[in-house]
Amino acid sequence: GSGPARTVAHDRPTVVAHRGASAQAPENTLAAVDKAHALGFTWVENDVQRTKDGKLVVVHDDTLARTTDVEQRYPDRAPWNVKDFTAAEIAGLDAGGWFSPAYEGARIPTLKQYLQRITHNRQNLLLELKSPDLYPGIEKETLRELRNDGWLDRRHVDGRLIIQSFSAPSVREVHAQRPDVKTGFLGTPSVAQLPEYAKFTDQINPSHTGLDQAYVSAVHSLKGPHDKPLELFTWTVDDKDTSVRLAGLGVDGIISNNPSVVRDALGGR
Ligand code: G3P
Ligand code: CA
Repeated sequence: GSGPARTVAHDRPTVVAHRGASAQAPENTLAAVDKAHALGFTWVENDVQRTKDGKLVVVHDDTLARTTDVEQRYPDRAPWNVKDFTAAEIAGLDAGGWFSPAYEGARIPTLKQYLQRITHNRQNLLLELKSPDLYPGIEKETLRELRNDGWLDRRHVDGRLIIQSFSAPSVREVHAQRPDVKTGFLGTPSVAQLPEYAKFTDQINPSHTGLDQAYVSAVHSLKGPHDKPLELFTWTVDDKDTSVRLAGLGVDGIISNNPSVVRDALGGR
């Protein structure tokens, strides 16, 4: 054989409902987190951006075009950037009809509304700061909102909240502001770069494409800022075979639009 046999028994990975149960309900809406809850999923992922008037909202794309009726409502305001619309304008958009007529009238939630709903559902949050370069200061503002809604209390910080971003400076900033909060870096730094990341992030969260045992083991061999082994949550995994492969690599989390598929795939392990 080639390399040492794996002898460590791994727990089942945490399954995270990506943008909520976004295969079943419109992504990043309260309906999507409620659907995840109804299906039995505790962990949900979302994307946080900022309106023209400084309110934090939960939406994935930098523009409102794909997931709302903004083009019909505001035909003269292309390219419909989130940052160019007020919270009141955004609150009036339909964020469900694009997905299915059954969800017409679903709204883009504010971060506050979203936090209140998942608190009610007793869910846990993998919060992504999306495109933070567009929103200077969003790290501090997001932490303030989280604190106001009780999400920086010890019981949340200890195991119920992770803040992640594709922007390393943004993750570093979150860690600097609140060193107690668990963080994740979205991407695949080289193995040589990992020790630098381990100074400010608890997780390395890569795309599953090309992920191999050497990389997972390299991540696990380092300790993060809380003196625990770095974790790895991978995305976006919606099929059985990939789920089984990744669980075999010992990943700590699998982020899925269709988390029931992942759960069913891993059920026999
Ligand atoms: O949580 C991982 C995943 O959400 C990162 O990519 O584009 O879906 O936000 P994206
Ligand atoms: Ca995301």
